[in-house]
Amino acid sequence: MSTLDAQTTVGVIGAGAMGAGIAQVAAVAGHRVVIADNDSAAVARAGASIAKALAREVEKGRMPAGHDTMALERVTFVADGGMDDLSRFADCGIVIEAIVERLDAKKAVFAALEAVVRDACVLATNTSSLAIAAIGGACRRPERVLGVHFFNPAPVMPLVEIVPSLATETDVTSGVRALVDSWRKTTVIASDTPGFIVNRIARPYYGEAIRMYEEGIADIATIDWAMKEAGGFRMGPFELMDFIGHDVNFAVTRSVFEGSWYDPRYRPSVTQQRLLEAGWLGRKSGRGFYDYAPGAPQPPATEDRALAERLFNRTLALLVNEAVDAVLMRVATPRDIELAMTKGVNYPRGLIAWGDEVGLDTILARLEGLHAEYGEDRYRPSALLRRLVKDGRSLLA
Ligand code: NAI
Repeated sequence: MSTLDAQTTVGVIGAGAMGAGIAQVAAVAGHRVVIADNDSAAVARAGASIAKALAREVEKGRMPAGHDTMALERVTFVADGGMDDLSRFADCGIVIEAIVERLDAKKAVFAALEAVVRDACVLATNTSSLAIAAIGGACRRPERVLGVHFFNPAPVMPLVEIVPSLATETDVTSGVRALVDSWRKTTVIASDTPGFIVNRIARPYYGEAIRMYEEGIADIATIDWAMKEAGGFRMGPFELMDFIGHDVNFAVTRSVFEGSWYDPRYRPSVTQQRLLEAGWLGRKSGRGFYDYAPGAPQPPATEDRALAERLFNRTLALLVNEAVDAVLMRVATPRDIELAMTKGVNYPRGLIAWGDEVGLDTILARLEGLHAEYGEDRYRPSALLRRLVKDGRSLLA
């Protein structure tokens, strides 16, 4: 692998929401950037959105005047889309792919890229749900392929999960991590497992909220209020799912469920499937759990503090269990898990530290209570949680 530094030209394929954001991040960091898409209109839209976002940075005083145009000038927007002739990527030291989330499409792009880039060029994918091994496995040189998973919007969200596959060379992983660190991002290393860190550990935030709603323990507005009031989360789970979009949120749940060979902890819900089937995708379609039509009445929350504590405690127990289990299964280190959940999805605190504060014995007792009550594997405590309680140990010690 050639050295990745400020002189490295960064290629971006896919000029949608993520590709445009990643191109902006690299350009602001001083790189020359080339961006292409199989839809030339998407490239034009990316140009306009990056220009607007950079101008706003200057307006807000977060970037010196003139630096916006300088950053923009470093980006080559391939006007004809660029996918018929990838030779413009020949000088890149790294190419980051952010096209549609389909394995066949990603494999085809990587195969075409390998025909034009140097052997030393790193090939990165921004996939959120596909296996890096499956994408790398289609390449001539899988040792230079890895996941570089940004969060949306890429210029704003600090976290980037770096995901080597079993074939990725360690130099490639460390070189890419150093490069992305130099872009003022917080990087964590995740194993090539379903959902990586954030999309795996966050599942109960959505899943348990839906479950409590399905059982009629509380309504959506009350559960949202409880998680903000008792937990300090910025958005309640239903608001957040409406914001993310049920198509995206359901697809992630489904891919983690299927990718884990149907672990019941990640089972998707019929409730969310119905929203999807009805086309109630959330904010973007005007309706999801909530109605976003102008003037539509919003359901009131029952502001009962004791109920809020119950709803929050149940969800927190599942979240802490996921975080601890991810350590057991070596998805990432405890430190990286704490960083990932606070920087990637804005949790008010790291789940492992939160568990320590509440008491891991309390978390375990809550899970055992749910497990006994429901008899469902969904609530089974992680073996590592049991061990930590038995030994009176913390993962952060
Ligand atoms: P998007 O739909 O906004 O953009 C995808 C772009 O790829 C479109 O402009 C499309 O024209 C282009 N494209 C599709 N097939 C192509 C091909 N064969 N060759 C070249 N260009 C092609 O999608 P978005 O949201 O930017 O997602 C892109 C990738 O990033 C996906 O893998 C997604 O899973 C991942 N991701 C998305 C996040 C999100 O919140 N939107 C967060 C993190 C990762």
